[in-house]
Amino acid sequence: MIGYALLLAPSANRVYADAAVRLARAELTVFARSGVLEVAPGDVDVTRIGGVDYLTFTAPEPGLGTRDLAHLANLSAAYALFERVGDLLRPVPLHPLAAYDSDLITIPKYAGKTNEQFTRLLLNVTLLASAAAPRMLDGGLVVLDPLCGRGTTLNQALMYGHDGIGVERDSQDVEAYAGFLRTWLRRKRLKHTAETTSVRRDRKLVARRFEAVLSPSKDAHRAGVTQRVVVLNTDTTRAREVLRPRCADVIVTDAPYGVAHGSRTGQGLSRSPLELLAAAVPVWRELLRPGGALGLSWNTHVAPRAEAEAVLTAAGLRVVDGPGWRDLAHRVDQAIERDVLVAVAP
Ligand SMILES: C[S@@+](CC[C@H](N)C(=O)[O-])C[C@H]1O[C@@H](n2cnc3c(N)ncnc32)[C@H](O)[C@@H]1O
Repeated sequence: MIGYALLLAPSANRVYADAAVRLARAELTVFARSGVLEVAPGDVDVTRIGGVDYLTFTAPEPGLGTRDLAHLANLSAAYALFERVGDLLRPVPLHPLAAYDSDLITIPKYAGKTNEQFTRLLLNVTLLASAAAPRMLDGGLVVLDPLCGRGTTLNQALMYGHDGIGVERDSQDVEAYAGFLRTWLRRKRLKHTAETTSVRRDRKLVARRFEAVLSPSKDAHRAGVTQRVVVLNTDTTRAREVLRPRCADVIVTDAPYGVAHGSRTGQGLSRSPLELLAAAVPVWRELLRPGGALGLSWNTHVAPRAEAEAVLTAAGLRVVDGPGWRDLAHRVDQAIERDVLVAVAP
């Protein structure tokens, strides 16, 4: 057996307080049980080495192969990986997917932003549950965030080489995202097109639509490799008016916590997202391809897990359960206890 020790990013403690190691362990367990790895890590544990906590695990000889390492490099809290040689640590280079400079994800800062490390965790576990999991390293998938705010999920999708579609009813958020991306693409001198247009049906305005088509490098552009990000400024329950059915491989979304954001429905603004989810999930489900997965995070102080689960099940989705999957709840702050549910479309 080969022993490994994963050092977690120092930021993980800031995001999850004392739950950082537990969440990293849950995420590794989801990877291990997903079927995407050639060798599933075993003996997953937390070990204190030289006064620092590491996530430790084992793999049979000759150890993790290149593709497995490429997967595990994307663990949301991964900072550095070591092979344990006696009581020494030998560095194992990690190359996380990064089609663009990391400031695509780190520059935007605003109240109500979903933490980017958590967003990566949510995207990872959702991709791993979907039929597209074997292709998650290859780019070209479509990630939809139907409550996209200022685009943390969309930028993470771009970073992984995928396309992003967002839906957001707050026009200021959509404009802020479009403005940021345009400026960032110009500053990085990346080949792209970007435009905002109106979507009309029977001459009535249905939504404003921002679309950018970009290439990660000049070589990629020459080879015709492009990525697309689209943001629709409309109510998420009306998403079917502006999006084709089965357009997304995964849906990844962070529902309003009832603190900085409320959930907007026909009945007004609510602290609990359940009413919004009950109206929106059946619409979102139509946007998922067969075998697609929906990953949802929300604040359990305003909506119990069982009720969120019931909304997903009622829409014909199958909630994924088991070790790892049910260990993702964590405290964000005094007002927010966040949990994660992932469900699959048949
Ligand atoms: C928790 S925030 C998402 C933040 C986002 N992940 C980010 O990092 O920018 C939830 C978002 O849902 C939006 N929202 C609430 N009700 C909505 C509705 N009915 N249709 C579309 N968007 C809605 C809010 O405006 C808010 O931007």
